[in-house]
Amino acid sequence: MKILVLGSGAGGGFPQWNCNCRQCAGQRQGELTAHARTQSSIAVSADGQAWALLNASPDIGQQLRRYPQLHPRQGLRDTPIKAVVLMDAQIDHVTGLLGMREGPCIDVYATPCVFEDLTTVFPILGVLEHYCGTRWHMLPVAGSTTSASFMIDGFASLRFTAVAIPGKAPPYSPHRRDHTVGDNIALFIEDFHEGSTLFYSPGLAHVGAEELKWMHDADCLLVDGTFWAEDEMQQAGLGRKTASDMGHLPQTGDPTRPGMVDVMAATAARRKVLIHINNSNPILDETSEQRRLLDGHGIEVAYDGMEITL
Ligand code: MLT
Ligand code: MN
Ligand code: ZN
Repeated sequence: MKILVLGSGAGGGFPQWNCNCRQCAGQRQGELTAHARTQSSIAVSADGQAWALLNASPDIGQQLRRYPQLHPRQGLRDTPIKAVVLMDAQIDHVTGLLGMREGPCIDVYATPCVFEDLTTVFPILGVLEHYCGTRWHMLPVAGSTTSASFMIDGFASLRFTAVAIPGKAPPYSPHRRDHTVGDNIALFIEDFHEGSTLFYSPGLAHVGAEELKWMHDADCLLVDGTFWAEDEMQQAGLGRKTASDMGHLPQTGDPTRPGMVDVMAATAARRKVLIHINNSNPILDETSEQRRLLDGHGIEVAYDGMEITL
């Protein structure tokens, strides 16, 4: 299985266009040892020919231009992107669909909750009907069904499993305050040929027994790296919301709750990688003490263009 990180930043990317915080300003001025990052999305492939996007970022145009693997190959109009799987209906994960409107009808894999948001309060799928159109593949994660395995045409050696996880529906969604099973999923992907597995979860609010079970079975973890600390936005004067308010488990824990670093340290995955890094997170600074701590645990920080082969 090949994984290509198209974007490794959280909503807003890094540096964020309107942000003058120490890190965003420092990156712009070349005073910080940190790479710019577009908003999060990854592409996966079994053969390097057909690719599936996991989330479609608003930065998709820039991302698709940058990576030759995703360029057209034959014929006048062509794309190796055969499907888009959505983890939630957040703006930074779905608006890239609009950037694919010049291409063929898009095969979209998502839960009923996500299809509902994207056809009612944020009706981009209806809008796309006037362009390329979308073919819906309903992932039956809803009600008491908390996981569902599925295959994608053209990816015969990969089995995908959508797993309901604790998280937050987008701020615009009626589910924001009324969490519904299917608002947020993680993906567990198995490659039958290589015998390898990936757990992908860019927005994960809590790791309980169920999430841990999936994480324990994965060779590679690619998980929520949004915030280092619960009150990071407040500390930086950037906002009032905590990591929990936004549906993200911070890397550092407290006596009542282990952080993502503790969780990852307790798994046996070969690769442990944080993705969807917010511009306020000190791990963006490659010389930071927080980054050294991650290194000590064998935890990597995803960057745009990172390739992982499993
Ligand atoms: C989040 O995951 O909380 C987002 O990155 C917020 C956003 O899209 O602005
Ligand atoms: Mn996000
Ligand atoms: Zn900033």
